[in-house]
Parts: sequence; C-alpha cells; structure tokens
Amino acid sequence: MIKRTILAISLAACGSAFAQVAVTIDTAKPGPVINKNIYGQFAEHLGTGIYEGMWVGPESPIPNTKGWRNDVIGALKELHVPLVRWPGGCFADEYHWKDGIGPRDKRPVKVNTNWGGVEENNAVGTHEFFDLAELLGAEVYVNGNLGTGSNQEMSEWVEYMTSDSKSTLAELRRKNGRDKPWKLDYFAIGNEAWGCGGNMTPEHYANLYKNAAAFVRTPPNAKPKFVASGGHDNDIRWSDVLSKQIKQNIDGISFHYYTIPTGKWEVKGAATGFKEDQWASTMKNTLAMDKLIRQNTALMDKNDPQKKIGLYVDEWGTWYDVEPGTNAGFLYQQNSLRDAVVAALNFNIFHAHAERVRMTNIAQMVNVLQAMILTDKNRMILTPTYHAFRMYVPFQDATALPVAIKNNGKYSVGSVSVPQVSASAARGKDGKVYLALVNTNPNKAVDVTVNVTGMGAGKAVGQVLTAAAMDAHNTFASPEAVKPAPFAAQANGGKLTVQLPAKSVVVTSVE
Ligand code: AHR
Repeated sequence: MIKRTILAISLAACGSAFAQVAVTIDTAKPGPVINKNIYGQFAEHLGTGIYEGMWVGPESPIPNTKGWRNDVIGALKELHVPLVRWPGGCFADEYHWKDGIGPRDKRPVKVNTNWGGVEENNAVGTHEFFDLAELLGAEVYVNGNLGTGSNQEMSEWVEYMTSDSKSTLAELRRKNGRDKPWKLDYFAIGNEAWGCGGNMTPEHYANLYKNAAAFVRTPPNAKPKFVASGGHDNDIRWSDVLSKQIKQNIDGISFHYYTIPTGKWEVKGAATGFKEDQWASTMKNTLAMDKLIRQNTALMDKNDPQKKIGLYVDEWGTWYDVEPGTNAGFLYQQNSLRDAVVAALNFNIFHAHAERVRMTNIAQMVNVLQAMILTDKNRMILTPTYHAFRMYVPFQDATALPVAIKNNGKYSVGSVSVPQVSASAARGKDGKVYLALVNTNPNKAVDVTVNVTGMGAGKAVGQVLTAAAMDAHNTFASPEAVKPAPFAAQANGGKLTVQLPAKSVVVTSVE
C-alpha cells in the first residue's frame, strides 16, 4: 500500500515533465539465447558471505539443511540461481582443497590472509559446496589454485570431483560420503593473475595456463568448461593475449569490472546517504561496462572469429566504502535502490552482448559487496538487488530481441551525462515477449511508447521497483521498504505507453 502511494506521488510530481521515448522491439529478428548463467552468483570465503550468511553447520539452532540456512536457500531458490562460483576470488589462489574434506572437526584451521586475517576452519569444503549447489539446483564453477597450488593439486582436485573409477582419490571421495562423481560444470585456472593471483603479465600467465590445463584431465564425458583468468577495468590486453595464445582447453576468458561511485579505490563512496552527484557518477561508471565489453569482444573477435571462447564477467557489481564499524576486510555494504538500478543496467548490457558474454557472476551472493541478501544472526533481509534479479528471471535462457530506442533523453548532473532510458527485450522460454526498462533519472518520470513489430501490443503486465529516495534500502527494522509493486499498462488507440517512474526498473510481459 505504502509502495503504491509512493509510486503515485512520484508519478504525479513528475507528470508535467514526461518526455516521449519510443521503444521498438523487433520480433522478426531473434538474436542469441541469453545464457541463464549471465545471472550467476559468486560465493567466496570472505567475511560473512559463506560462514554465518549461508553456512551455519548442521548443529546450529538456525534451521538448516546439511548446514546451509533454510531461509537463505529458500530465498535464493526464488532467483533460480543458475550457477555459483566458489571458493574465490583472491581466496582461491591460497585454497588447498584437501584442507576441506574429511571429518570437519579434523580439518586444519588456516588464516584467511586476503580477507581480514580471520581464522578459516575449512568447515565448508568441496562436499559442502556441492550440497549448496544441489540445494539451489545450480551449476558449479570451481576456481582452481594456480597461485600457491600446483598443477598436480588442481589435477587431483578435478579427479576427486569427477572420477567414477576406483582410483585412490575417487575412493577417498566415497569414504567421505559421496559415491557418484559430481558434475563439474566450470573450472578456472587461477584468479586475477594480474593482481592477487600472482602479479603476472598476460604472456606469462598464458604459458602457465596452457601448462596447467594440459594436466587437469577428466573422463571424456566429464570435462568441465575451462576458464582462463583475464583482465579488468581498462586492462583489456589480457583478452587479446589469451585469446591469441591459448588455442586448446579453453572455453572462457574472465573479465572483472566493479562499479565505484567516485572511480577511486581509496575513497569509493558510501552505500547510502550519498548525494545526487554520486548517483549520477555511479550510473556513468556502471554503464562503462558496455564499452569495456565491446573493447574486449573486439579483440576476441579478431583472434577467435568463430566465437568459441566466451567472455565471462565473473566479478561485477558495486563496491563502496565498508559500513562504519565493520571489519574492513569483510567488504560488508548496504544495498539501496541505486544498486537495483545498477544491476538492471548491467543485465541490459549483458543481454546486448549475449553472443560472447555467456556467464557473469555478481560479487557476491550474501553479505559481501553487492549482495542479494544481508543476514544478522538468525534474521535475513532481501536487498533491492535481490528484487532486480527476481524480476529478470524470465530473461534466463530467453532469446534476445533487438530493441531500438528513439528520442532517448539524457540525464545530466554537472559534466556527467547518461542516457535516461535503458531497454532490453527477449522472447522467454514460455513464448512471451518480455521488456525490461530502466530510468536512470532520479528526478523525472518518462513516458515510453512501446511498439512490437509483428504483433500489436495490447498491454504490459509486470512489476516495477522504485522508491522515494535514491538510497532507499531495506533494514532489519524495515525489511520491505524497497520491494517490487505490480505494474500494468494498457494500449490506447493502438498505442502502448508505459509510464516509467523516476529511478525505476520495470520488467513486464508485452501481450
Ligand atoms: O570480490 C572480492 C574480490 O575482488 C575478489 O576476491 C577478487 O577476485 C577481486 O579483486
């Protein structure tokens, strides 16, 4: 009720300022399938992302299944999480998989040197991770340790996971409670080799990759997709060197890009309580993802014209200053309406590049960076980003449809200027046409006329996510301050007009 009132006020306040934007969806020219793994997640051993946030252990009074929180798993299932990347991140290059198997009370305690210097008791290891994936119905993306590990260690881990033989490692897996091999969908060799993964050049890494990938063998029917660790931000040379030099045992090259309001790592900007200049710079910085993907894919198109190798944006999302009073190494941040708009803008960008971008992983799933869920002991709240992911579920494995936007306005603050409307459309697996619209302008609503070639658009039915404040967010005291509201629009005189509120995300079927 409150939500509807807010929406009505916002629309009324901006009623006189509506500009007319025209969106045309071309159903006659279906594009590539939007791989469901574009909606992938990332869970690292970092802060309370896994421990507390998801894993509480089987003995916990918090209701759980095999140690994983029932409330969190239940909420994540609503997102149809297609894929989870684990165990890092930077953590992956210091993770030794044998520390995380066997009786939990006998596992070694290590120091998580990357993230807060806290103790890592290895309670979550390979078996527990596959339990999580099974509970979610998600594919698995395991990141191997190239940094402090070895080819032998990676090769043995993969054998442990995938072998159906009577080898000592397969028998060890059985002794530890898993008879049949698991399906390992993706395996990465190292992470951020240019930074925490070893400060390498792409040329050096390409050789190490080729060497390692040659020894990570599986039964022929159990081969995972292999991922090379690529570049980040403006450092796109990695995509060039890796796609040129690695011609075997490679299915994807990763790319990392985080949205930082100020664009500066030293002072990134706050998750809430920011001014409009930081709303605008966040929009601008996140929209840079489009240019970066174009630059990376242009290099890959040159070296891999048959598009055998995917560009996997396996870390993306907002990165703010940590919440005051929290461990700086835990990367805990609030999540506001701004984050939902950021997520939706990125989804629209990923859809537009679906031919090459076949996987992305938002960083990260729970309690870390741009999270879906925040927890506090036995309580949890869903973030605005969660709602954006939920609204976009019909785009998973949908077929992209070309979208043209005419008369798009600009949203400007000072020297920062971005397009006001972002749009994406697809034909869902259910046969319906879906349209996603984002209004980046926090002050002005916009009227969007929608024309679907090949069919008369009669109505739009879906959901809208918006709020009164730019930094509106959910808290444990007020867990539903930001949540989607029903959305509908009817055609008038053969014309469908969608009223897009200021700072909003709308996902609707067009019928
Ligand atoms: O997502 C947090 C960290 O960001 C990851 O561990 C690392 O790969 C990146 O620098």
